[in-house]
Amino acid sequence: MAGDALDPAALAAVRAHVAAARRVCVLTGAGMSAESGIPTFRDALTGLWAKFDPAELASEEGFRAQPQRVWDWYAERRVGMRASQPNAGHVALAAFGRRRPGVLSVVTQNVDDLHQRAGWPDTIRLHGDILANCWLEPCPRGRACDPAHAAAGRPPRCTDCGNLVRPGVVWFGEMLPEGAIDAAERAARACDVMLVVGTSGAVWPAAGLAATARRAAAQVAIVNPHPSEIDDGAHWVLRGTAAGVLPALLDTLD
Ligand code: OAD
Repeated sequence: MAGDALDPAALAAVRAHVAAARRVCVLTGAGMSAESGIPTFRDALTGLWAKFDPAELASEEGFRAQPQRVWDWYAERRVGMRASQPNAGHVALAAFGRRRPGVLSVVTQNVDDLHQRAGWPDTIRLHGDILANCWLEPCPRGRACDPAHAAAGRPPRCTDCGNLVRPGVVWFGEMLPEGAIDAAERAARACDVMLVVGTSGAVWPAAGLAATARRAAAQVAIVNPHPSEIDDGAHWVLRGTAAGVLPALLDTLD
């Protein structure tokens, strides 16, 4: 099914499946937000992991070794994310979901809030929220993840015990947020159609959700301008971008 250009027949076929679906699950990755100006991780040259070492910047060990460097890197990414806007793909998804109550589930690996700002607040976030802070160590006083108790710094520290504040994202080797992967698996098992948008399919367990949906008899369609690691498991591959394909797929559906 894969080709180098968007195949109009495949687009029409996927649109027909979406039109008839009782449940649609959309799994998104960094490519979903690329046209909002947020860099992906694994695209050659432009991806963050082409320029930076994930072991240094996306692991607890890396943070403990160089807390200021890691804090500053996330602070810079936060600035970019706050300045970005949802693109036509985020908007098309949220509008489709609002037109068809009870049909759409969005599961994202993205740590930005663009699905939410486009109007889909129930987005299931597998990898956390870059705009949130949390304590590095469990708080000995049981204080929630509220760094209001922290003194300014890079990173801020607890004024009582020195506990460090860290960004609320999932780093390599960490568990996904409680409930998020369960909710995502339920959505994958319940859907008739899964759209997999803008992910390389390299990171698990998120990458396994497409196979979960397929095993549960869903039609699986990939939306990605480039090959991904999970193309072979899809019924359809739509070679195009999120902001191009999603409006073409969804905007004409009531
Ligand atoms: P990747 O950077 O691995 O993959 C991005 C995918 O988006 C690639 O397959 C691109 O071809 C595709 N892409 C690029 N531009 C696109 C566009 N305009 N429209 C559609 N697709 C486009 O990103 P993820 O698969 O999301 O972890 O990476 C998974 C996880 O690895 C991330 O959540 C992150 C990272 O380490 C955490 O933040 C915890």
